[in-house]
Amino acid sequence: MPSPKIITVLGATGAQGGGLVRAIQNDPSGAFRARAVTRDLGTDKARALAALGAEVVSGDVDDPASLDRAFAGAHGAFCVTFFWAHFSPEKELAEARAMATAARKAGVRHAIWSTLEDTRRWVPLTDNRMPTLMGKYKVPHFDAKGEANAFFTDAGVPTTLLHTSFYWDNFIHFGMGPRKGPDGRLAITLPMGAKKLPGIAAEDIGRCAYGIFQQGDVLAGKSVGVAGEHLTGAEMAAALGRALGREVVYNAIPPSVYRGLGFPGADDLGNMFQFKHDFNDVFCQARSVEFSRSVNPQLQSFATWLAANAKRIPLE
Ligand SMILES: NC(=O)c1ccc[n+]([C@@H]2O[C@H](COP(=O)([O-])OP(=O)(O)OC[C@H]3O[C@@H](n4cnc5c(N)ncnc54)[C@H](OP(=O)(O)O)[C@@H]3O)[C@@H](O)[C@H]2O)c1
Repeated sequence: MPSPKIITVLGATGAQGGGLVRAIQNDPSGAFRARAVTRDLGTDKARALAALGAEVVSGDVDDPASLDRAFAGAHGAFCVTFFWAHFSPEKELAEARAMATAARKAGVRHAIWSTLEDTRRWVPLTDNRMPTLMGKYKVPHFDAKGEANAFFTDAGVPTTLLHTSFYWDNFIHFGMGPRKGPDGRLAITLPMGAKKLPGIAAEDIGRCAYGIFQQGDVLAGKSVGVAGEHLTGAEMAAALGRALGREVVYNAIPPSVYRGLGFPGADDLGNMFQFKHDFNDVFCQARSVEFSRSVNPQLQSFATWLAANAKRIPLE
C-alpha cells in the first residue's frame, strides 16, 4: 500500500483546520495523513489530534523556519490566517505571504487557501456607502484575504481559492447568539434586511477542503465557495426558535447601527454584512450548496447543525 500523502494543516487546533484534520484522519482509506501545525504541542486540542493519528508538529506563522519544517515533504497544504487574533489586515497579509512562501519552497502539489472577497473590487474606497477602515480597506478581514490570493498564484503554487461562509458556530462562540431584547423576547441581530446569508457549520469547511484534496489537482487553480445553506435572518431566527423551544425573532438593523455597536471589530463586521447585503447575488452565487455537498456528502443544513449544537448556544 502506498504511504499516505501528507497534508500540512495550519490552524489545526481551530475551527477550519480542525475539521480538515478530523476528516483526513477519519477516512478509513488512509490515503492522506494530516500534519497538524500548532504553537503548543501540549494543549488538549493538540493531544486530541494526535490521538486521531495525525502528526502534530510545532510551528508558528511568525517563524518562517518552523513553517519550512512543517511544509517539508508535504503533498498538500491548508492555509488559513488568524485575523481575529490580532485585528490587523497587514499582519494577515504577512501571515498569508509566509504560508505561500513556505508552500512554494516545499513544492507542495496542491494548496487550499481559505480566502474571502477583496470587497474593494465592488466597493472602491471612493464609494461612501460604507466608511473606509484602517486607511485603505472596506472590510479589512475580507480585503486582506482577497489581496493575499496573489501571493499563492504569483508564487506558482497550485492553489484552490476556497471562499468560506459565516459559521453558524458564531451563534455559540462569537457573541452573535440570541439575546433578550427590551421586550423580553430572544432576538438575533443582523444588518441583512431580507437578504440571504450563506452559512455553514465550521466543521464542514474542513470536510469540504478534504473533498477538494481528494479530487487530486482537478480544483487546483480554481476558485470555489462553500455553504451549508443560504438563509434569511427571519429563517435563521425561526429555525433557532424551533431548536431551542422558545420564540426567537430577527432584529434587522441598518449596517450603520451595527457598526456602532461598540464591540471590537463591529465596524469591520458592519461593512461585511453590508457588502453581503448589497451584493447578495454575487456573494451567494460564489457559494454553491450543491458544490459543497458534492465534495462533502455529510454537509449539514442549519437544522441538522442545530439539532446537534443548539444546547451549546448561550442564552441570556
Ligand atoms: N467566524 C466566521 O464566521 C468566519 C467565517 C469565514 C472565515 N473566517 C476566518 O477564519 C479565520 C480563522 O480560522 P478559524 O476560525 O478556523 O480559527 P480559530 O478557530 O480561531 O483557530 C485558529 C487557530 O490558529 C492557530 N494560530 C493562531 N495564531 C497562530 C500563529 N501565529 N501561528 C500558527 N498558528 C496560529 C491557533 O492554534 P494554536 O493555538 O494551537 O497554535 C488556533 O487554533 C479568520 O481569519 C476569520 O476571518 C471566519
